Amino acid sequence: MIGDRSVEVAADAAALAGRAAARFAEAAETAIAARGQFVVALSGGETPRGTYQRLAREPFASRVSWSRVQVLWGDERCVPPDHAGSNYRMAREALLDWVAVPPANVHRIRGEDDPGAAAAHYEATIRGLLHTPAGPPRTTAGARIDLVLLGLGEEGHTASLFPDSAAVRERVRWVSAEYAAGPAMWRVTLTPPVINAAAEVLFLVSGRAKAEILRRVLEGPDRPGELPAQVIAPSAGSVRWLVDRAAAAELGKGSA
Ligand code: 6PG
Repeated sequence: MIGDRSVEVAADAAALAGRAAARFAEAAETAIAARGQFVVALSGGETPRGTYQRLAREPFASRVSWSRVQVLWGDERCVPPDHAGSNYRMAREALLDWVAVPPANVHRIRGEDDPGAAAAHYEATIRGLLHTPAGPPRTTAGARIDLVLLGLGEEGHTASLFPDSAAVRERVRWVSAEYAAGPAMWRVTLTPPVINAAAEVLFLVSGRAKAEILRRVLEGPDRPGELPAQVIAPSAGSVRWLVDRAAAAELGKGSA
């Protein structure tokens, strides 16, 4: 069982997308009112597509001050930015092409480069954005990511932190590159220390195929090496699970 976290169950994938978009907008408004900027790390995979599409439409298109948003990604597959598997491409098509985020505020992971070089380049980008040229991630406002969106893989991975991978145990690097499963390819991912320094982490989980793994992650024994989603526990922030009824189908049914 992981520590304090909130779980909200939405009726279906469409309701989940609406709730996630609303939460994104609230977090953006709070950060922009306080500091003039909102730093968000987007998730890949398919689940957040509906959320991004909602954000691209009213009321969110006008409600969010998009010129004040700095866009990062939690992970990227090592493919070119126009590849169908690119997390950047998905977010661009669903959201970024439709709202006025200045191109200089869009910090994509360079999936077309050598994975190690892309990871090093991305770490330097994030350190610059968060004013932390050296040392561990900081949890002070303005020096941390405001919101990290994450998904959950059917075997318990999140971002590109896969079961039994070195990235799950990484304590020093902010970004790492690894050859990983599902589908097998090189990937670049934020590591646990930088995700866990964030102000807020929001997991989006949808569909019956995720029900068993969601139960294991939230209600089963703590096995973060095996279930990387369990490693996510912000040290000075919050974690919310926004799931739909199908994904929540196995929760609360007893021992894992
Ligand atoms: C990726 C991810 C990954 C994803 C989960 C869930 O690049 O694949 O960021 O961690 O969030 O695999 O993916 P779905 O939303 O497609 O189920």
